[in-house]
Amino acid sequence: MEAETFAKSCRFVMESFVKMSGALHGSVFLMKNDQFHRVYSSVTKNKWITPSRRGVSFQVCKTQAPVLLSEKVLKKTHPEHIEKGIHMMYVTPLINRNKTLGVVSLHFKKDKKMNGEVQQILLEFGKIVGMILADSLKLSRLEKQVKDRRLNTAMTAHELKTPLTTISTYAQLITRQFSQGKQINSQWLSVLLGETNRASKIVNEYMEEGVQTSVVVECDLHETIERAVVNFSLNYPGHQLEVVNYLPKNAVVRADPDKVLQVITNILNNAAKFTPTNKTIKIKASMESDYFPISIIDTGHGMKKDELSLIFKRWYKANKTKEGKGLGLYISKKILDEYNGRIEVQSVYGQGTTMTVKLPHRALKK
Ligand SMILES: Nc1ncnc2c1ncn2[C@@H]1O[C@H](COP(=O)(O)OP(=O)(O)OP(=O)(O)O)[C@@H](O)[C@H]1O
Ligand SMILES: [Mg+2]
Repeated sequence: MEAETFAKSCRFVMESFVKMSGALHGSVFLMKNDQFHRVYSSVTKNKWITPSRRGVSFQVCKTQAPVLLSEKVLKKTHPEHIEKGIHMMYVTPLINRNKTLGVVSLHFKKDKKMNGEVQQILLEFGKIVGMILADSLKLSRLEKQVKDRRLNTAMTAHELKTPLTTISTYAQLITRQFSQGKQINSQWLSVLLGETNRASKIVNEYMEEGVQTSVVVECDLHETIERAVVNFSLNYPGHQLEVVNYLPKNAVVRADPDKVLQVITNILNNAAKFTPTNKTIKIKASMESDYFPISIIDTGHGMKKDELSLIFKRWYKANKTKEGKGLGLYISKKILDEYNGRIEVQSVYGQGTTMTVKLPHRALKK
């Protein structure tokens, strides 16, 4: 039972109750913050019966004693249930270590006698499965936490890759120059510092459980594109990157420059990964009335049409054998959402892909 997901446990509980009681169908409700939550139902949605405030289910929860609603009672109090083909109801508690966890509501198509022994068995069963459900609920919460943590760790590792590669390359360059007694280019030091800061920011975000603590500041797109281009030429020396810049002098968006760099880098990394070295990759930036489009145009593999709606989903990769986790575009989209931006894709299979990032002139969430 431990390995069962919570949903499976609920189905098991419902099916067992239905079998033992001879009911037609039913629902499992758990109580949270004084409210019922339907966690499983073996009946179609149009036949759902929702417990009313101060109704029978609340009474069962309070007293931990089952209640039977005969056809006669239902006709008087709930004629709408009769219309749904339900002629008798039996509500029994789910108890976890003396505390009520919720109720199981069973629906019968005919009025029938429930003898005392059956009622006792259902009550005892409610105590056993109540315990199982409570543990299963705890387990599924833990499973979700582990899943979230795994995604967070993978996203951090993904985002650290580029700054760490850049840091390592510059560090080697500087060491070489130093050992040859040559002057060290001050621009290298500033890139090194910038990438170190970026890496430590990513680590800090990870420590804060993936909360995007993006500082909203001014982001000069000229500077950010330049950083991306320099990093690219360093990390992909075999590829040619053409830069077409139609941006006005003052091309500024309100966003964290490191985050915008992350987005452009993720897309450039894909372009490099899916384009042979003898084919061209271009980055083109311009201005439109509401936003600055930045396009990364490659002449590589391209994508099939049915793939285009999937590429922003986490863990998606068309080719499982290719390097990567299927996270770069998921992360990029998340960042752009934060700044009211968007990302558009055009691709022709076998010919290439154009990814366009659109950041509004005032890239802030309203
Ligand atoms: N420029 C491109 N050309 C062809 N296919 C692409 C391109 N960009 C993305 N894709 C497709 O979209 C998928 C998802 O891309 P994404 O960047 O999210 O993940 P990834 O590159 O596979 O792995 P990761 O980014 O985690 O290293 C890719 O695996 C690939 O199938
Ligand atoms: Mg990628």
